[in-house]
Amino acid sequence: MDESKFNKVDFSKYFQPPSLKAARRRRRETVHIINDFSIPGDMKTIGRGKKYLVETYGCQMNEHDTEVMAGILEEMGYQETADVNDADVILINTCAIRENAENKVFGEIGHLKPLKREKPDLILGICGCMAQEETVVNRILQKHPQVDLIFGTHNIHRLPQLLKEALFSKEMIVEVWSKEGDIVENLPQSRHGHFQAWVNIMYGCDKFCTYCIVPYTRGKERSRHPEEIIEEVRDLARKGYQEITLLGQNVNAYGKDLQNPENYGLGNLMDEIRKIGIPRVRFTTSHPKDFDDHLIEVLGKGGNLCEHIHLPVQSGNSDILKIMGRGYTRERYLDLFYKIKKAVPNASFTTDIIVGFPNETEEQFEDTLSLVRECRFDGAYTFIYSPRAGTPAARMQDNVPMEVKKERLMRLNKLVDELAAESNARYQDQVVEVLVEGESRKNSEVLSGHTRTNKVVNFRGPNSLIGQLVNVKITDAKMWSLDGEWQKEPEVAGR
Ligand code: SAH
Ligand code: SF4
Ligand code: F3S
Repeated sequence: MDESKFNKVDFSKYFQPPSLKAARRRRRETVHIINDFSIPGDMKTIGRGKKYLVETYGCQMNEHDTEVMAGILEEMGYQETADVNDADVILINTCAIRENAENKVFGEIGHLKPLKREKPDLILGICGCMAQEETVVNRILQKHPQVDLIFGTHNIHRLPQLLKEALFSKEMIVEVWSKEGDIVENLPQSRHGHFQAWVNIMYGCDKFCTYCIVPYTRGKERSRHPEEIIEEVRDLARKGYQEITLLGQNVNAYGKDLQNPENYGLGNLMDEIRKIGIPRVRFTTSHPKDFDDHLIEVLGKGGNLCEHIHLPVQSGNSDILKIMGRGYTRERYLDLFYKIKKAVPNASFTTDIIVGFPNETEEQFEDTLSLVRECRFDGAYTFIYSPRAGTPAARMQDNVPMEVKKERLMRLNKLVDELAAESNARYQDQVVEVLVEGESRKNSEVLSGHTRTNKVVNFRGPNSLIGQLVNVKITDAKMWSLDGEWQKEPEVAGR
């Protein structure tokens, strides 16, 4: 491989290694709103007649970043393709949350090697959260010379310039800024859906849960201004969107970093969005610590605010929660849970859980099972703890063998499945409102969509219903989905 490809990289300039001390300092830094995104004159038509493909491996924020990169590429004339063999630019938008997420990406980089050899003009770029990790960038530089471009989550707006460098240089281009105090407002976006849309309300995370890499890969918490968000939502309403999801790693911290004497927060924002003519509004992800009474009160007003709360608990044991740095106890979580349930009686609840955190005992794990049993969650994303280099938890000694962790995960999943089936059974014979999202993945003759409570519903009906809200009577409640019959004549819209 060409040695010069990695000789040029000065890591100290590009990376901010995980550091709690630096993070405490970063909270005080001012956020700059930038509106100066533009495509350089010589790049405006560079993509004409060419195609791009972005592969996305991460969370909703990552998927939304893909929509922004797609928007930028389309402004340069590139067209989307779903076929790697057809693409002139391939970007891999990566996730660093767990080791297996990273392994998948390295597998894909390996798969693309022969293609790059066959088509030397192909530009292969790696971006997203893994690009923020020094170890990952080093590994790519040393072992994967087929990669042309690496850029971080704070460099997306620089894509045109970076692509230009990659096109005209023989070296691997690496740009990963640790600079994170900015919000670029005028980026284009090419939304994937025509009736569902994601709207970022904030970026970054300052929670620093001890196991988590996100505060390092996404930078400090920074909220968009309410006017910008509301304008975007109004625009989506005008364009006929049926559902929006407000996005952030910790949406309940919305507003905390704004110059904000009135303490304008997520509750205020949702209260304003409630008045906009979009039928469904969701938000994710909530952090229990910052979920305040005002937000609960606003959610209780219903209307377009959907009755689904994703409220990650991570563990049901207060000692583990403390070591995780979550900032709440089991009791506080349960108090919050019941408070929301009271204000929004029809709400469905989902959660995230980590099993096998370092030194988790059997009793501590059973506390998680008992909390899950008590909350009777509609669903849960469950994970085995995965050490992330540079995080405090990764430095802890761990006495729990992997077989024990796997066995705990299986026990937890069994309970989660039972509760999911139980919660779905309550929908039997009810009429529910469904946003029809498309043909079912398993059967193209069946349409599929979600209820306001985020349950998957499958039913037969004409494709013309796609993108519409319809009523469906549930005839068969399964564990993870509901089968039903389309009600041509509108009945009472249930939940
Ligand atoms: N901001 C959200 C979660 C984002 S990451 C929140 O605070 O709830 C999504 C989920 O991945 C987390 O809720 C957690 O359950 C899981 N996760 C994060 N880091 C992990 C790690 N190191 N090992 C295993 N699971 C992890
Ligand atoms: Fe990670 Fe915690 Fe931030 Fe969620 S709140 S992204 S788990 S640090
Ligand atoms: Fe993964 Fe980054 Fe999202 S680590 S979960 S893609 S914020």
